[in-house]
Amino acid sequence: MKIGILSGGGDCAGINALIRAAVRRAEAYGFQVVGIRRGWAGLIEADVLPLDYGSVADMVSKGGTILLSSRTNPYGKDGGPAKVMRALKRLKIDALIVIGGEDTQGVAHRLVAEGLRFVSVPKTMDNDLSETDVTFGFDSAVNVAVEAIDRIRTTGESHERVMVVEVMGRDSGWVAVHSGVAGGAHVVLVPEEPVDVDAVCRTLLARRKAGKGSSLVVVAEGARLGRSQDTLGDKLDEFGHPRLGGVSTLLAKEISKRTGLEAREVVLGHLIRGGAPSAFDRVYASRLGFAAVDFIREGRTDVMAALRGGRIVPVPVDKALKRKTVDPETLQMARQFT
Ligand code: F6P
Repeated sequence: MKIGILSGGGDCAGINALIRAAVRRAEAYGFQVVGIRRGWAGLIEADVLPLDYGSVADMVSKGGTILLSSRTNPYGKDGGPAKVMRALKRLKIDALIVIGGEDTQGVAHRLVAEGLRFVSVPKTMDNDLSETDVTFGFDSAVNVAVEAIDRIRTTGESHERVMVVEVMGRDSGWVAVHSGVAGGAHVVLVPEEPVDVDAVCRTLLARRKAGKGSSLVVVAEGARLGRSQDTLGDKLDEFGHPRLGGVSTLLAKEISKRTGLEAREVVLGHLIRGGAPSAFDRVYASRLGFAAVDFIREGRTDVMAALRGGRIVPVPVDKALKRKTVDPETLQMARQFT
């Protein structure tokens, strides 16, 4: 048995821990493993490298992905899917471990019709995949965001400012809600509901009136101040996504204008995506790596290894790809801490 591993889309903490675990498990079964570089691009361009015990040593704590990543979409390229399938045949790869979110796994799911065998794993700091309790990379990102928010809070207090902290998360507010609640934010704004700037200003003024000197607002990059999300330019990636960003700048400006309070924005951006995984993500990603190899060995395909109630189980990929947004109860809880 020969297994290929690829990572696509935005990286997150824990990918290398997962690769390491998968290689260790595969070697225990006597399987061969090859790494595919830059996601689906590595199959279109046949850019692969052998992975063995030595090449994944000491990887449990290393951030990023040793396989590199890209947002390449074979379905957007002339003959892309056929090139991928030809490369798999030429390289004698029996099955893939697909480390990805919605887009990367979506390609794998479509390629099943061409004969692809694969098991995927829920990789994304956004935590926006269904059928799993959580995605890996999310816990690490939230932990870094909270550390940053704790620091932003003290400087905000010294200067009696409104500090507006923008976090990634694409179209889901999971990172904003978890880092906001854990960081003691007074206002948390998410893509799941339109932002009412007047209501935000009323909350901030009420806090001032109650004698509070400073306030902390956490806003998801995908939150909508107007009718659409704020983007950094018009360019779309190969899956049709814009680069989100800029909402905190607009919001801080509006807050200052409407309340007279001094506001500052901080964009945490890629800072919370990079770096070493949390202990939780190291263990979770390792469990996923083991399970992915086991599921391939059992002959499964088109399934995602998922965490459900403490166990790693296979779930159908098409169900997992339904975007998971923040539930109303959690949103309501986040609103109770003004
Ligand atoms: O999907 C992961 C993610 O980090 C999103 O939260 C964010 O919108 C996007 O990727 C950023 O992508 P890039 O690394 O291409 O700027």
